[in-house]
Order: sequence, then structure tokens, then C-alpha cells
Amino acid sequence: MSSLLTNTAATAPETEPTVEPTVEPTSTGPESTGILPPSHWAQVQHDDTDDGDSAFEDDNASSTASLSASILEYRVIHGRTYHSERGNAQSWNPNDALHDESMEILHHVSTLMQDGKLLLAPIRDDVQKVLDVATGVGMWAIDFADDYPGAEVIGVDISPQKPQWIPPNLRFEVEDVTLPWTYQPNSFDYIHLRWLTGCVEDWNGFYREIYKALKPGGYFEHKESTCLMVSDDGTVTENSALSQWGRVFTEAGRKLGRTFSVVEDGLQVKGMKEAGFEIVLEKDLKTPIGPWPEDENQKLIGQFSRLALDRDIEGYLNYIWTKVMGWSTEEIAVYAAHLRRELRSPNIHAYYAQKVVVARKPEKS
Ligand SMILES: C[S@@+](CC[C@H](N)C(=O)[O-])C[C@H]1O[C@@H](n2cnc3c(N)ncnc32)[C@H](O)[C@@H]1O
Repeated sequence: MSSLLTNTAATAPETEPTVEPTVEPTSTGPESTGILPPSHWAQVQHDDTDDGDSAFEDDNASSTASLSASILEYRVIHGRTYHSERGNAQSWNPNDALHDESMEILHHVSTLMQDGKLLLAPIRDDVQKVLDVATGVGMWAIDFADDYPGAEVIGVDISPQKPQWIPPNLRFEVEDVTLPWTYQPNSFDYIHLRWLTGCVEDWNGFYREIYKALKPGGYFEHKESTCLMVSDDGTVTENSALSQWGRVFTEAGRKLGRTFSVVEDGLQVKGMKEAGFEIVLEKDLKTPIGPWPEDENQKLIGQFSRLALDRDIEGYLNYIWTKVMGWSTEEIAVYAAHLRRELRSPNIHAYYAQKVVVARKPEKS
């Protein structure tokens, strides 16, 4: 299995392309969304006598060879790089080394949460053709290709991948996966997708493309996260930075027309059934944030999930919160300081939900 990879960051162009916001940024208001205005976070004082501050922990320690130049013409937004203009894609995740590191840690979290398993679909050991959609840094695809050396594995993403070494049975391609697919119909045995929330306008249409590309009897697996950070014991309070995270992202998804509420709205099962899939498995998972759980494995998961977030809070927020929600980078920095502080509190028992759905294309289709 993989360890954390060190990626070579692609260089950004010297001149920064102008980035047009997709929607008019608007200031946020508490009226219907419960979102606190950005200025709120500059006014909040910490009361160091509350919730056991002295017990606060320290900061966390702390397509291939044919890539054309245009693919590497990354957009630069407030010093972070994003995929080049292509198709209809609008990924809010930076594609730089700092964010890659956070995603690599999350890959580790994901497999820890699945007892070390990369996938839950009951695929055959001699699976032949596999696609990892929105492969990101490619760690899942690399691990899968290592585990199934007889399979031909493709990882596709809007940003080019930069691992230093990849297994010989894996290749990466650069495409906008929200456009109509050009893959041969009925050609894949297994298609995997993890974490594309906030990037897709039409989930049902997207699932139809996946259905078409799968062989009859082939499996599709989609793991998705909610953006809501919650607690079961009231320790994540309504106006906390943790709680505001989800509110702002939810509202931003609504404005963008690319929802962040895939899990909460049950879009996976609905969309897959509508595309013609048979649902094989639904698994709901809770991802602890921080080492608060008593169970040792959950504690470890919480430590890593907090580390992933803490490493690059600003990277997660940079595009959506400035371009869509109208926050300044200074406002984000103040908010992030509050969030980091909450993340270190042993008295806050935060988690976020994830949902894995495994579906099969019927044999007779
Ligand atoms: C949160 S990351 C998840 C990466 C990977 N699936 C994983 O599990 O680590 C989302 C990925 O989706 C990619 N993405 C977003 N919109 C896309 C699109 N329209 N076409 C292809 N890839 C896209 C981003 O470039 C990013 O790598």
C-alpha cells in the first residue's frame, strides 16, 4: 500500500490569467442560511477559561506523456493554482503541492475507515479494465493498479497528475468528466469515484455516462462526503467555525449550481437508480475530526482527518469562499484561525458523514 507521495508541483505561468467568477460574489447574510458575516470572526474574543483551554493540544505537526502545454497553464487565484480552462470543469480544489498533501492524507483516512480496503464492490480478482474518475493525486489508482497487476487501470482528472512513479498497468488522462464521455460503451468492468462534491451540475446525467461506459454486470462505486461538520452531543454549536463551514459551502453550492449536498439529499442512490443501476450496497460512515473517540482505530482516523484539514484549510476555502461567497483572503485567514482553535479542543466531538454506494449494471442491459 502507498505511503504519502511527494509530488513535483507543476510550475504556474508567470503571468496570472484573469479569473472570472462564475457567479456574482455576494456578501453573506444570516437571514435564511444561518451564515455569519465574515466580519463576525474578527470580533469574536476567546474566553480562555471556557471549555478547558489549558487542555488544548498543540498544533498538528504542524494524460500521460502527451500533456500539452495548455493543460499546465494553471489558473492562479490568490497564490494557489487550479486546473487550466477546459470544458465545463470548475474544480474548487487547488492542484498544488500543499493541497495534494492534504488529499494524500485523506486517502489514508479513507482506507483506514474501510479496514484497509480500497474498495467495497465485489469485483473479480481478474478484473480487466478499471476507471478511476476524478483521480486527483492518483493515490487510489496507484494502489489499485499495484493490487491488481493484471488490470488495465485509467485515472482521469481535469488536472494532470504528477506522481514520480506509477505502476506499468496504470495511465492517467486529462478530461472534463462532466462532458459527454468518449469512452467506448460497455468497456469497463469497474468504475470508481471518490469525492466530487461541488463539481457536478447534473448528477443524474453524470451517472448515465458511467452506466453507458460499464460492461453489463460491471460495478460502480461512489464514495462521497458531506460538507457538514456536526456532533451527536451538542459540542459543535450553531455559531461555531466548524458549523459555519458546512453552511457556507451549502449556500455556495446552491449559488454555483453544483451542490455540496450530494449525501444529505440522497443523490447517489436516486441518480444511480434512475440511470438503470441495481444498488448492491449502501454504507454510511462517520469521519471523526480529531482524536476524541475512545476507540483506538477511530482515534487514529480522527487524528489523520484533522491533520488533512489543518494542513490546508485555506486551500479548501480559497476558491469557493472568495469567488462565490465574496470573502476576502484576510477574512478567511481570521476564520481559519478560529477553526484551527476549535479543531484542537478536546471538548468538541466533531465528525462529518460519508456515504459509499456500490451499484451494478444489470447483466441484461
Ligand atoms: C476532492 S478531489 C478528489 C480526488 C480523488 N478522487 C481522491 O479520492 O483523492 C476532486 C478531484 O476532482 C477533480 N475534478 C473536479 N472537476 C472535474 C471535472 N469536471 N473533470 C475531471 N476532474 C474533475 C479535481 O481536479 C480533483 O482532483
